[in-house]
Amino acid sequence: MPIPQEFIEELKSRTDIADVISSYVNLKKSGRNLMGLCPFHNEKSPSFSVSPENGFFHCFGCHAGGDVITFIRRIENLDYVEAVKFLAQRAGMTVPEEGKDNGMGRLRMRIFEANREAARFYHKQLYTPQGKKALEYLRSRGLTEKTIIHFGLGYSPSDRFELVNHLRSKGFTAAEMIQANLANESKKGNPYDRFSDRVMFPILDLRGNVIAFGGRIMSDIKPKYLNTSDTPAFNKSRSLFALQFAKNKANGQLILVEGYMDVIALHQAGIENAVATLGTALTQEQAILLKRYCDEIVICYDSDNAGQNAAARAISILRPTGLKIKVIAVPNGKDPDEFIRSNGDKGAAKFRMLIEDSGSDIEYRMKKLRDRYNIEVTEQRIDYVDEVCRIIAAIDSAVERDVYISQLAGETGVEKSAVKSQVDDYLHARRRDSKKQQQRTVRNEMSAKNDKINAEKFYNLRAAHAEEAIIALVINNPDAAADVFRRLQPEHFVTAFNRRVYEVLRKRAEAGNDISLADISGAFTADEMSEITSMLVARPREQDIHRAVEEYIAALEQERSRLSPEQMAQAGDAAIKEYLEKKRKQSKNRRN
Ligand code: UTP
Ligand code: MN
Repeated sequence: MPIPQEFIEELKSRTDIADVISSYVNLKKSGRNLMGLCPFHNEKSPSFSVSPENGFFHCFGCHAGGDVITFIRRIENLDYVEAVKFLAQRAGMTVPEEGKDNGMGRLRMRIFEANREAARFYHKQLYTPQGKKALEYLRSRGLTEKTIIHFGLGYSPSDRFELVNHLRSKGFTAAEMIQANLANESKKGNPYDRFSDRVMFPILDLRGNVIAFGGRIMSDIKPKYLNTSDTPAFNKSRSLFALQFAKNKANGQLILVEGYMDVIALHQAGIENAVATLGTALTQEQAILLKRYCDEIVICYDSDNAGQNAAARAISILRPTGLKIKVIAVPNGKDPDEFIRSNGDKGAAKFRMLIEDSGSDIEYRMKKLRDRYNIEVTEQRIDYVDEVCRIIAAIDSAVERDVYISQLAGETGVEKSAVKSQVDDYLHARRRDSKKQQQRTVRNEMSAKNDKINAEKFYNLRAAHAEEAIIALVINNPDAAADVFRRLQPEHFVTAFNRRVYEVLRKRAEAGNDISLADISGAFTADEMSEITSMLVARPREQDIHRAVEEYIAALEQERSRLSPEQMAQAGDAAIKEYLEKKRKQSKNRRN
């Protein structure tokens, strides 16, 4: 581990896991633990628990788990060293320099630096003769100087080498430019600018790093917008344009629009809680991200067909998060940018009125359906009622359901009780489905986990259980650990993953170090940490430790002697296979 042990110790003592997680999840006390809605999967009833006493979190639904560093790794999408830095900053500490020695983290830092340099370069271009037309373009779209600076807009020259040459002069390598997706690689292996003759929109993460760019062409050439592809520093399905500004202005509500220019026009007009996806449909990860910063989403997509379909999809992604959803239809087929501009000084006020008048997603969908049916005709009225009942059945709150049931009954002249029983039918069907779905998810989750983390467990259940009990025991009972470590060698372990965990624990203990989850966090991936945490969660603390140790060791011995020579060889092979797999992954990461 590149970060000194004393530093981790100090960090641990200054970091309260409940405190850290509380800034992401609304936690409520439940016995000795805290419970809340899991931030790593969509759920409606809390299965995410935090144990301040043991210093770990665990989700009984999706099985994510680990210490506080693992939590930050997952939720902020950071590697181990970055997560330590993140927590250190929070605790007012500075990580010693050796901590830098991390391949992936270093590459990511270099990409951030290259991106920042590129953003500066693009911005400066606006004020050169070749960039003048881009500046004029932005002005012609109604942007002020202040807005252009606020969003750091820029221009990428048409010559395909200006940025590459500039970055080279600043010490960036061709590989770094290509990794950052600022440059493409020619057939001969030379880098050339990816963006050429476009207006540039930098995309920032929540900590102010420039993670990507969108570039708009100023003519009819396709594609209209060219965006950075995913890089080690950028995952478009987890990012939202302008969230770094909008999150501070949310006040419980965020506005979701389709385009960069829509966001910018709204912000300029003083509506600074607007964000946009990055040229793709809204993802589940983005929905969870949104939920961290607001309780209500106002969807305001283009009024063309594509926009309306996208809105319908976004609703279905957002519904399960429990966020309140409103949908705005901008009149006359305009997008928010055009709407604001065409209303001049009154643009913002009129847009706010649209929000005021906007209906819930349910009303929005009812209205869409209404346009398709003529409810004067009995048959169509029946179909209409049926379709709306289906929508109403998807609402969780009984009170809210009742409101729409009344509304639908009033609107169509159908008896309220008839509407209600129709809704109830769909409700029951939905509950059955969701139970099945849940079981499926859990099963998939389990088998995927088994495959990924401890593939051998399935074939060596009893041994794996004994191994896991031993791992839990040494972590939970440091006093008894020395005895176990003396009697049980890593070779006695049957499954390779558990053997590795045991080895890490044993080495640390022998060196006189602590072996809590946070102490071993650097030696494992976030998924592996989840697996280890599950071992601790699954079992209560042992009452009679010595007897338990005897039992587990005996069980393990039995299981081991049951293995055929081939299987024994295989158990050894697994360790080699795992090693090779890791090597392969490492070299793959280097190539990417
Ligand atoms: P639109 O085509 O609706 O453009 O794309 P817009 O936002 O109104 O842009 P202007 O006003 O003509 O400048 C909406 C969003 O979809 C993504 C971009 O993020 C854009 O802002 N997009 C669109 C792409 O990624 N690539 C494209 O070629 C087009
Ligand atoms: Mn537009």
